[in-house]
Amino acid sequence: MNTKILKVDLNNIDMDSLKEAGQLISEGELVAFPTETVYGLGGDALDAKAAEKIYKAKGRPSDNPLIVHISKFEELEMISKDLPIEARKLADRFWPGPLTMIVNKNDKVPYETTGGMDTVAVRMPNHPIALELIRQSGCLIAAPSANTSGRPSPTEAKHVVGDLDGKIAMVLDGGEVGIGIESTIVDLTEDEILVLRPGYITPQMLSEVIGKEVKIDPGIIAQDDTTKPKAPGMKYKHYAPKASLVLVEGEQDNVVSKINELVQEQHKQDKRVAVIATDETRNKYKADVILNIGSRNDEDSIARHLYKILRECDELEIDSIFSESFQTPRIGNAIMNRLLKAAGHQVIQA
Ligand code: TXA
Ligand code: MG
Repeated sequence: MNTKILKVDLNNIDMDSLKEAGQLISEGELVAFPTETVYGLGGDALDAKAAEKIYKAKGRPSDNPLIVHISKFEELEMISKDLPIEARKLADRFWPGPLTMIVNKNDKVPYETTGGMDTVAVRMPNHPIALELIRQSGCLIAAPSANTSGRPSPTEAKHVVGDLDGKIAMVLDGGEVGIGIESTIVDLTEDEILVLRPGYITPQMLSEVIGKEVKIDPGIIAQDDTTKPKAPGMKYKHYAPKASLVLVEGEQDNVVSKINELVQEQHKQDKRVAVIATDETRNKYKADVILNIGSRNDEDSIARHLYKILRECDELEIDSIFSESFQTPRIGNAIMNRLLKAAGHQVIQA
């Protein structure tokens, strides 16, 4: 299949391109598109065959459900049942935005889209291209992240093309995304409201709106197999760079000395080493490659560059990577959740 790549200017959206993309979705084809979190791989959410195509293009296990993207609240009502009051409250506050809600599905949603589950994940993305694509297609759009299963989520169209060229009908290139990590997932189907995947919107922000405590799913904090995560996707082995990745935690100065020590040890064994550093520390390391992830004064910049840096690690000829830790004040949990998985939980205290 020839994948058509169309550049779209966010500030001046070309409607002909969006109509063409929407038409493809309505015909059961797949189109990758930007959202504010990461690029999504979209297909008609209510068409079982389109959902199957998505799993195939990504190489994704078909028991890992997709997120349904909508452009207005009524579309959530249209595909759910027993919608709790919290859904309306959270939508009023956070939609369009990086929050996915799990609710009970009704018969309109095929089991192919929900990986066999009776619940469905729904999100209204805060991105003009994504919203216009949903409207133009006349469909609700099922969209997982637009990467090959097991690779980091794409934050630029070129990442999507690298993974899916020739496998999907179209890529809408709307430039780099703004947030860079996937949406927060909150489960509203149980008495206890749980965050199944941490993201830009924190449990505290959710608690404030619904007036009761929101916890993080114990299954995603556990490092052993005793407690399974509730979101099927969180149990899969995630992306790990080809080179070994080790995180170093502690006070900044101690981390810098520790990493430099570790680099030296590797150099004695003739290894090539990369360090993931920040604006504040990048000049303090002596390694073969320094990857600057962003600034500690701007934690959003760290989230935004995370996946791009992890992809770069594979393009470099290196043997080991040492990274600082990013337990930043607000979205540190979300950043570290991804980074710890990439490192296979290898952490050294400085
Ligand atoms: O930011 C995002 O959420 C991006 C953009 C494209 O919107 N999408 C995304 O989709 O990250 P994906 O498929 O890569 O991740 C969806 C996650 C998976 O971990 C999946 O298991 C979980 O959501 N999920 C989907 N439906 C669910 C359900 N009914 N119950 C529990 N978890 C569900
Ligand atoms: Mg994904």
